[in-house]
Amino acid sequence: MKTMEILLVFFVLGCLASDPVLSSPRRYEAIFNFGDSLSDTGNFLRSGALAFPVIGKLPYGQTFFRHATGRCSDGRLIVDFIAEAFGLPHLPPYLEVAKGPRVRTGVNFAVAGATALDASFFYAQKVGPLLWTNDSLSVQLRWFQNLKSSICTTKKDCGEYFKKSLFLVGEIGGNDYNYPSFVGGSIKQLRALVPLVVGAIARAVSMLIEEGAVDLVVPGNLPVGCSAVYLTLFRSPSGSAYDSRTGCLRAYNAFAKYHNNYLKQELQNLREQYPHARIMYADYYGAAKPMYHTPKHYGFYGGTLRACCGGGGPYNFNNSARCGHTGSTACRYPSASVNWDGIHLTESAYHHIAKNLIYGGFISPPLLS
Ligand SMILES: *[C@@H]1O[C@H](CO)[C@@H](O)[C@H](O)[C@H]1NC(C)=O
Ligand SMILES: *[C@@H]1O[C@H](CO)[C@@H](O)[C@H](O)[C@H]1NC(C)=O
Repeated sequence: MKTMEILLVFFVLGCLASDPVLSSPRRYEAIFNFGDSLSDTGNFLRSGALAFPVIGKLPYGQTFFRHATGRCSDGRLIVDFIAEAFGLPHLPPYLEVAKGPRVRTGVNFAVAGATALDASFFYAQKVGPLLWTNDSLSVQLRWFQNLKSSICTTKKDCGEYFKKSLFLVGEIGGNDYNYPSFVGGSIKQLRALVPLVVGAIARAVSMLIEEGAVDLVVPGNLPVGCSAVYLTLFRSPSGSAYDSRTGCLRAYNAFAKYHNNYLKQELQNLREQYPHARIMYADYYGAAKPMYHTPKHYGFYGGTLRACCGGGGPYNFNNSARCGHTGSTACRYPSASVNWDGIHLTESAYHHIAKNLIYGGFISPPLLS
């Protein structure tokens, strides 16, 4: 073979190579996902909230799909890798399948920009106009109720089907903190929101269990202090504001942990309330941390904190030239970067996180057992 052909074969195989599908029999027949841009596979794009959202065009989707799908990344998301691990198709967005033929392998209700608390909460706090979407967690749960009548009929039928389904409730809640902090909310103000946000997540979990869900995964928040948008907005002249090992903002990472600990506590209460359910906590923070500690070990030669796609600035996040807008460019090798567009991560970062979650013990109790 000529060098060119060898390269081509390598390239094609490299792209198609995926994780082994978990041994049969397949554990779940369907996956239902609720959340925000970390797991939206196309609802925001179809919601019409914005006439020309940048996530509807390249470079979004350039990796793997080779076209924009409405995912806020260059390629696949954690939810896609979870579906692949169970041998299930990528979850179609609810707004695509709501009026179509019934889908038995799962549906995705996540919407980019969605909050755990209702939009009315943010309107009352005068930050409502900042919201990208009003399709909060309770709206997504209503969509689930609407869809239910088309996928199963009797209580028994639904129960049988949901028992064999996996419910992913989040990540959600990150935006509840993003919106207030982007307009100057202090960490103290964010902490005051935590019981409300976690309360909304816990209510969603309860509701799904009452509907018949048995296996649920509830993720916590990522280390937001490592996110290019936070690093740009909350740049500090004080070296002590940064984690010397990772360069991330210590106070925001500590806040993410605060939310996560609160959530874990609440999940423990739910386990006691619903002993028959398997309520799993997904430690996104812990699963992401190794990438920031030893980036080269994971092939992140392009860096961990600088966005791959952006319009300049120390972290390549420029609010006047965000990824996809005029003045922004994408880096040549997204797989060598952790951060995609300043806010969201690259496919390769999500892939590492997903592998850590599924096979690395960052879901407890474990997803596979
Ligand atoms: C959300 O609801 C508010 C109040 O009803 C409305 O003014 C706003 O346009 C809605 N936003 C979106 C993105 O649909
Ligand atoms: C941010 O983008 C604007 C608009 O494209 C540009 O004028 C400005 O120079 C950029 N800032 C940085 C720091 O690159």
